[in-house]
Amino acid sequence: MNVCMIGAGYVGLTTAAVLAKLGHTVHCIDENEQKIAALQRGDIPIYEPGLAELLTDYKSRLFFHHNEQHIKEADVIFICVGTPPDLKGKPDVSYVHRAMDTLIPYIGDHQTLVMKSTVPIGTNERIYKRLKNEGKHVRIVSNPEFLREGSAIYDSLHPDRIVIGLRDDDDRSLSVMQTLYAGIHAPYVVTSLNGAEMIKYAANAFLATKISFINEMARLCDAYDVDVTDVAKGIGLDERIGRHFLQAGIGYGGSCFPKDVTALIQMAYEQMVRPYMLEATKTINDTQIYWYIQKMKRTLGALAGKRIAVLGIAFKPNTDDIRESPALSFIKKLHALGADVIAHDPKVVVPNDVNVKQAKTIHEALQKADALIVATDWDAYKQLNWEEVKGMMNGNVVIDGRNSLPREAIMNAGLNYIGVGRG
Ligand code: UDX
Ligand code: UDX
Repeated sequence: MNVCMIGAGYVGLTTAAVLAKLGHTVHCIDENEQKIAALQRGDIPIYEPGLAELLTDYKSRLFFHHNEQHIKEADVIFICVGTPPDLKGKPDVSYVHRAMDTLIPYIGDHQTLVMKSTVPIGTNERIYKRLKNEGKHVRIVSNPEFLREGSAIYDSLHPDRIVIGLRDDDDRSLSVMQTLYAGIHAPYVVTSLNGAEMIKYAANAFLATKISFINEMARLCDAYDVDVTDVAKGIGLDERIGRHFLQAGIGYGGSCFPKDVTALIQMAYEQMVRPYMLEATKTINDTQIYWYIQKMKRTLGALAGKRIAVLGIAFKPNTDDIRESPALSFIKKLHALGADVIAHDPKVVVPNDVNVKQAKTIHEALQKADALIVATDWDAYKQLNWEEVKGMMNGNVVIDGRNSLPREAIMNAGLNYIGVGRG
């Protein structure tokens, strides 16, 4: 098939690469001319494991443009532009509407429009009506993505399910999508346009709730001297609960969970429904760093003037994405409290508006540090030689922001280990 991708960000690029692997020809369009120029040169603007290899292997079927000429020829047009939160926390769908403005002159009745961007419930129906009013009888599909950054290629090729939202009168698009995804083996969930939009929000809200639940349990474990990793294992082996997304730490971040939980809360308020559970999920997440700061103060005293090495800036390992990164929030909070923060990340540079030092190497970050925080659980941090770490630091406090460090080895090296809910 001939596919046109509007938006070559994390989701658009990954989806384009995977569709090319499946045998389709994909034309990516992005309004960011620098991004397109880089992609045309073969430079990848983001870090996503496996993406560069796919883009190289299938370059004969992948094209990058910043003009619209290829929209007309496409069988399927994907919308993959971002929907970041606006100042009130509502998803900003202006990029989606701008993408529609771009598309409308070119789009024709034979084409299928596929929405991958996460949009508020009712958006696809509104787009359908807009197209109809403009005399365009285009079929529209809501096909949300469930890709985790860092494993987006794997997730695209091995999804747990493919969700397809359709209008009642659409008897063609399901087979179009099945042809497009032929080669990917996963159950299909076919529902309405609104249904697919709700599934996307519900999935992310549920996963975020699981994380906030275990973070609340971790606080209780702190109080009752219990190891929350035992609790996560003990409940996670129950198949009804499941073992994933039960890792306590400094909370969830990224481009999806914070934005989607807030959006669902706003959508509930708009319909006069009080979203008690979602409010709690968000509150726990918003206060989790404060919980850590309190722990640090109990051990280190006032943080002002203390040299604190923060390992990790990205919102999770294996990505260079810092959108809503809890690691970055932690860094900002420590800086605001007067700590002398030095940050490190294998892939991320501290943004210009955050006035803290960045170390080129882990070694440089640890020199003379009073405390060390692992805020993003990159493998390189989990595999540190803790005897060496002790030798480099001034103090002896190691804060495990992801409950993923080897506690015994850290303690055996004479360091003071602080996780959350670790007994
Ligand atoms: C995706 C989804 O689309 C979003 O709804 C979901 O919730 C998270 O994942 P993502 O791929 O992470 O977003 O966004 P981003 O990396 O910002 O990429 C969006 C791309 O669209 C950018 O390259 C931007 O330049 C481009 N764009 C945006 C357009 O080409 N046209 C526009 O009108 C707006
Ligand atoms: C998420 C969804 O998982 C994915 O399906 C898609 O809808 C996009 O949003 P992503 O944001 O890339 O993916 O990362 P994910 O692996 O889900 O992690 C999100 C955040 O939760 C990260 O900050 C991570 O560190 C945190 N997390 C995850 C925990 O704190 N504990 C866990 O047990 C799991």
